[in-house]
Amino acid sequence: MRIGVLTSGGDCPGLNAVIRSVVHRGTDVHGDEIVGIQDGFLGLIEGRTRPVSHDDVTGLLTLGGTILGSARVRRERIVWAVENATTLARDIGIDALIAIGGEGTLTAAKLFSDAGLPVVAVPKTIDNDIDATDVTFGFDTAVHVATEAIDRLKTTAESHQRVMVVELMGRHTGWITLTAGMAGGAHGILIPEKPFDIEAVARMVEDRFDRGKKFAIIAVAEGAAPMPGTMRFDHGDVDQYGHRTFGGIGNRLAHELENLLGKEARPVILGHTQRGGTPTARDRVLASRFGWHAVEAVHRGAFGHFTALRRTEIELLPIGAAVSRLKTVPEDRWAESEAVL
Ligand code: F6P
Repeated sequence: MRIGVLTSGGDCPGLNAVIRSVVHRGTDVHGDEIVGIQDGFLGLIEGRTRPVSHDDVTGLLTLGGTILGSARVRRERIVWAVENATTLARDIGIDALIAIGGEGTLTAAKLFSDAGLPVVAVPKTIDNDIDATDVTFGFDTAVHVATEAIDRLKTTAESHQRVMVVELMGRHTGWITLTAGMAGGAHGILIPEKPFDIEAVARMVEDRFDRGKKFAIIAVAEGAAPMPGTMRFDHGDVDQYGHRTFGGIGNRLAHELENLLGKEARPVILGHTQRGGTPTARDRVLASRFGWHAVEAVHRGAFGHFTALRRTEIELLPIGAAVSRLKTVPEDRWAESEAVL
């Protein structure tokens, strides 16, 4: 068979490991030809492909990013591509497609599948917010990077008796922040699932200083928000010193705490460092297993399905199960940490 493979949406450590695994299983075991589609669905629309052979995937297991490139594509173009799905597949000469991506990619994959394109999807996201799979590859790597950052911030915070506010990725869910915050022993953990009370955050810092602990670390997800009307400073406001607040929640929170407490506070925005670099062992293995099962799914004709980790096994589930809702952190999970404020 000629199997197309594409990576779409934001990148994530482990994408290359999936590609490698698809090539190994497809070419070595089934005699498939693997067609790499460049820059996600954009490459499908524009007919940009490259063959991916066994030699092309040497060394990919440990490499971050994606050798195929990735892109976010405007909805109108996806709608057009779905209407022309079978022609586009014929033009690039593929019998089936393995689409690797996050929620947007899986939604598009379902549309393509409903339109008659034989698609198997592989979920990825560092955010771990895709429903119906216990975990996605990329998450463990992001948590490791974030935990190491928290560990490192502790020593410099203590030297200067500062409050460090470290902003972590997660626009809609707090999985990275909760997990790295707990692993790193952050004193405050703020996630989108629970609007935070700035007074409680300030009290926690003061209590620590009163107890002789001269620093505090607060891990905040980029999508976390204060309870309405509780924070004084918004984007672009000017404080009593004439300083202007800019940026996202990490900056605003550090600014607010400095003004409330009269202590030095510093924001640290970890950003895309959480998505770059080599995947952890756990992510390499999960990505490789997903790739293996995606090829097997193609050969069994299990189109319209995606690979999901359920406990220890990989299962094939209808793509619709992955995109019907976001997997947020349930209350009984975040309630397990007193640091969640
Ligand atoms: O969904 C993954 C993610 O890394 C989010 O955590 C983050 O908000 C977003 O992507 C960043 O997207 P971009 O790379 O387009 O800035």
